[in-house]
Amino acid sequence: MDDSRETSPVNAFVTGYPVKHSRSPLIHGYWLKQLGLAGTYRAHEVSIEDFAAFVASLKAGTSGFVGGNVTIPHKEAAFKLADRPDELSEELGASNTLWLEDGLLHATNTDGRGFTANLDERHPGWDRTDSAVILGAGGASRAVIQAVRDRGFKEIHVVNRTVERAQELADRFGERVHAHPMAALGEVMQGAGLFINTTSLGMDGEAAPRIDFSPLAQGAAVTDIVYVPLKTPLLAQAEEQGFAIVDGLGMLLHQAAPGFEKWFGKRPAVDDSLRALIIADMEKH
Ligand code: ATR
Repeated sequence: MDDSRETSPVNAFVTGYPVKHSRSPLIHGYWLKQLGLAGTYRAHEVSIEDFAAFVASLKAGTSGFVGGNVTIPHKEAAFKLADRPDELSEELGASNTLWLEDGLLHATNTDGRGFTANLDERHPGWDRTDSAVILGAGGASRAVIQAVRDRGFKEIHVVNRTVERAQELADRFGERVHAHPMAALGEVMQGAGLFINTTSLGMDGEAAPRIDFSPLAQGAAVTDIVYVPLKTPLLAQAEEQGFAIVDGLGMLLHQAAPGFEKWFGKRPAVDDSLRALIIADMEKH
C-alpha cells in the first residue's frame, strides 16, 4: 500500500448509477469513526458512458481515491477494466470491490464472502449439510452459488421461473450445480439443509406464493439475500413453518469488510450497533 496513507487521508467511493440509495457510506462511515481513522468514504455517481474514464483516472492516481465499491450497473465493466481481477471475479464476470496496489488496479467480488460470513455469524453449522436449494438465477444468485459450492456443498439446486437462466448458471458453476423449473421446487427441496431466496418474490406488491418448506431436512435453515424488509415474505413463511431463518442484512454488512481493510488497512467488525444503525436508516425511508 501507498505510504501516503500515513500522512494524507485515504478516500474511497461507492459508485453506481444511480448510487444515492446506497447504504455503504453509512457502513464505512461507522467503521472509520469507530476505528478513529482519518479517511473518507462517499457515494460518487458515474454514468455508464463515463465509467471507463473514471476507472482510467483511478488507475492514473488522479481521481483522489485509492479504491472503492462498485454496484449496479458497473460491476461487469469494473471486472473488465481492472488490471488484476481475482479468480472469484473471473468466474462471476463481475467485481464489486476495487483497490490500487503496486500501481495496478485490483478487483474482487465480496458478495459470496458476505453471504457465508452472515450465515457463519447467525447460524453456525449451516454448512453441515450436503444439499442447498437456491431460488432465482439473476445477477444476485451467482455469487451465492459460487460461495455455497466453494463451501463444499455437494448438490446445489438452482430453481428459476426461466429455467434457461438457471441452466446457464449450472453450466458456468460446474457439475455440482443443477437447474430446475419452478414446478420441481418441492421435489428438489426434499432433504435439503439450506434454502436461499435470491428473488424479489412477494415484494413488488404481489402476494408471495405459498411455499411448503416441509420437504426440507429437519433443522434446515432458510435465508434470503434481500434485506428490505428484514423479514421477507418467504422468511416469514419459513419461520411460521418452524424453520430457522437468517435475514440478508448481515450479507450487506459483511461484504463491505474486505474492501474497508484493503483501503484503510484495518479489519472492521460487524457488530450489533452497526446492524442497529442500518435498521434505523431502513425505518426512515
Ligand atoms: P438480481 O440481479 O437482483 O438477481 P434479476 O437479474 O432481475 O435481479 O433476477 C431476478 C430473479 O428473480 C430472477 O431469478 C427472476 O426470475 P426470471 O429469471 O424467470 O426472470 C426472479 N423473479 C422475479 N420476479 C419473479 C416472479 N414474479 N416469479 C418468479 N421469479 C421471479
